Amino acid sequence: MGSGIAEVCAKAGYETFVREVDEKALDGGRRRIENSLSKAIERGKLTAADGEAIRKRLRFSSSFAEIFSSDLVIEAIVESLSAKCEVFEALDKSCAPHAIFCSNTSSLAIAEMAAATARPDRFAGLHFFNPVPVMKLVEVVRAIGTSEETVARVTAFARSLGKEPIAARDNSGFVVNRLLVPFLLDAIRAHEQGVGSLEDIDTGMKLGCAHPMGPFELLDYVGLDTVYAIAEIMFAEYREARFAPPPLLKRMVIAGRFGRKTGRGFYEYDERGDRRR
Ligand code: 3HC
Repeated sequence: MGSGIAEVCAKAGYETFVREVDEKALDGGRRRIENSLSKAIERGKLTAADGEAIRKRLRFSSSFAEIFSSDLVIEAIVESLSAKCEVFEALDKSCAPHAIFCSNTSSLAIAEMAAATARPDRFAGLHFFNPVPVMKLVEVVRAIGTSEETVARVTAFARSLGKEPIAARDNSGFVVNRLLVPFLLDAIRAHEQGVGSLEDIDTGMKLGCAHPMGPFELLDYVGLDTVYAIAEIMFAEYREARFAPPPLLKRMVIAGRFGRKTGRGFYEYDERGDRRR
């Protein structure tokens, strides 16, 4: 999601520094942004001059040094509390005292990450949705120590990106995943219990409830590894059966069937991510 977040920030006029773990990951992010910008220019949604200005506002690096002068930092790394805390602890020492830290986590507690820094009042959740350039929603998450001023500034920032912010409490899954994840897990359980084929369940939810994607299409799109990680975190927080990852999901993740990104999940995909069957 990091590349999508960087793209919308640069589009909104912000000087944007992108930090990735290594050159390979940086290349991947750069390519995704470039593809998205060229497609927008081809379709006449963006002028070539605006595209060029957006490219100039984006800087990529595998070092943290570039972001030490940023006013706002958005973390979108792997969904691991220890990895996130490690990054925030390091950034806290070198970033400006006024800088606000945000995490794009979908299920971890913002308060736990904030506690790894000396700025819990300037720490909030800012949760985007896939695909970031398209989805209008952003959840602004107030943790136990987040100040009113930080909530107001982060909410204004989300609006300046052209997004519609909603306020959410710092409970695992916030608003959307709290409702969406049990639905996706229940679709897997329904399929396991023989309620319907993958295609029929997907068609049912698309044509019966006007969902843009059926649950299995969405699971493959978001990534089964990601949904599995989120479900484990939510189950650990709430200890309710509806958040427990079903055995089939766990086995698919063990088998490396993560969905679109690995070419196989509930459905199969070609190299371009288009559905084979
Ligand atoms: N980047 C930029 N633009 C994109 C894009 C991307 N990755 N994917 C699609 N678009 C644009 C297209 O260019 C097109 O723009 P246009 O209408 O101006 O030409 C528009 O979006 C529609 O795309 P398509 O015609 O290719 O395809 P669809 O109409 O099928 O829409 C979709 C694709 C927007 C992905 C739609 O299927 C959808 O809304 N799906 C549901 C997505 C969803 O539920 N997201 C939330 C996931 S949960 C989450 O993210 C939380 C996390 O914590 C797990």
